[in-house]
Amino acid sequence: MVHSPAVSLAPEWLVVPEDPNALAPTVWPASAHRDAGDAISIGGVSAIELVRTHGTPLLVLDEAEVRARARAFTDSFTAAASAHGTTAKVYYAGKAFLSTAVARWVTEEGLNVDVCSRGELEVALAAGVDPSRIGFHGNNKSVSEIERAVQIGIGTIIVDSAVEIERIAAAAARAGVVQRVLVRVNSGVHAETHDFLATAHEDQKFGMTFADAEIAVARIREAPGMEFIGLHCHIGSQIFGVAGFRESASRVLELHQRLLAGGAIPLLNLGGGFGIAYTSVDDPTPIEQLASEIVAAVADGCAELGMSIPQLAFEPGRAIVGPAGVTLYEVGTTKDVRLDSGASRLYVSVDGGMSDNPRAALYGAQYSARLASRAGTDAPALARVVGMHCESGDIVVDHEYLPADVEPGDLLAVPATGAYCISLSSNYNHVPRPPVVAVSNGRSRVIVRGESIDDLLARDAGISTNEGAR
Ligand code: LLP
Repeated sequence: MVHSPAVSLAPEWLVVPEDPNALAPTVWPASAHRDAGDAISIGGVSAIELVRTHGTPLLVLDEAEVRARARAFTDSFTAAASAHGTTAKVYYAGKAFLSTAVARWVTEEGLNVDVCSRGELEVALAAGVDPSRIGFHGNNKSVSEIERAVQIGIGTIIVDSAVEIERIAAAAARAGVVQRVLVRVNSGVHAETHDFLATAHEDQKFGMTFADAEIAVARIREAPGMEFIGLHCHIGSQIFGVAGFRESASRVLELHQRLLAGGAIPLLNLGGGFGIAYTSVDDPTPIEQLASEIVAAVADGCAELGMSIPQLAFEPGRAIVGPAGVTLYEVGTTKDVRLDSGASRLYVSVDGGMSDNPRAALYGAQYSARLASRAGTDAPALARVVGMHCESGDIVVDHEYLPADVEPGDLLAVPATGAYCISLSSNYNHVPRPPVVAVSNGRSRVIVRGESIDDLLARDAGISTNEGAR
């Protein structure tokens, strides 16, 4: 029986599930299911065994899911491009989550890698990624970052400001190379997503206006150590549908055409931003459809402008790694909070929170959750999964129906946590960051070690054993 308090605290979009133990296929990795004992199994390994081996909290990444999604992106964009007489390159946006294992998986599946800091670049290099397959992003690349990128023979640098052009020119001259560059423009399209996730509306820090880009391209073209290979535009993240991509592409193509007067432009990079399902009500467009509609829009735009379609590039991050990740927590306390209105909410506290997943706190992101160590037996109760941090905004899953018998000691799984969780994680409240384990064919292996208390203490210069360490 479903609880129906006088006033419900549930948001309108949240549906009372018929079965609060069911795993929505759009939200969970394809391999996820309940095993004979009703524990959730991912990549052939049960949540109970994963936690016995690696503890909680734990980010579990399904290798086959990452690889399949990487393949789906290259296959779909390659097929769509070839239908319009061109080719497409896919870069994995490492900011979503980068480790050497993930860099190897995606490059083995044919992707290139996009990095946006020295640290991400070094991880990709440590993974053995061919530097020519790396694109370097960022609105404030330092002189030394640019120097390093040019020295190692990075494939492309995506220029974000005029200042950077001179830095690249100087680095290329010192290295005696010609550096291939793109120019990032701001198409002015405001993607329908959280304000902080939209990157191409006018008043923000990324990219150049079309007028500034024209000046920048002219400067690059006359500089000896640089080759201009195309424009770049990224309109935002967690975008559903193709309307924003279509509009942005059509605006950028007009600039592309104007710039053709100064020489050939082989490439157009339309960035990433493809949305995923975080809860069962999210309905992202399938990758194949996205690819064919976006590429068709570019082809139409080129035809209207009377020019041939350039080679295309895309930079998905979240859509490759997000749905492959499941975070496992242990429930520590539960509390039924009953309000004067008669409404109530079950607070379920877990042993992680905004330190391993700050997205609810940062963006009001919604997630879903399921009991992972067993199936619950009671009817669904409106729950809020919260972390263990000293902050009331420390929410992991804002609204979810969980079996009312959820209790301390249960394992709880939060799906769709592969992207922008570990990469945004912190040590708030001196909480160590969790390990990341890859699961595949019934086995698990650590791909990023969890932090220990010793790791935390090691950075404190006031502890006697660390004194003079720096
Ligand atoms: N390319 C560029 C130039 C980007 O800035 C980004 C993301 C991507 C590609 C990949 O976007 P994706 O396909 O992953 O949506 N922390 C936020 C997301 C920030 C995205 C930053 N740029 C979040 O947790 O939602």
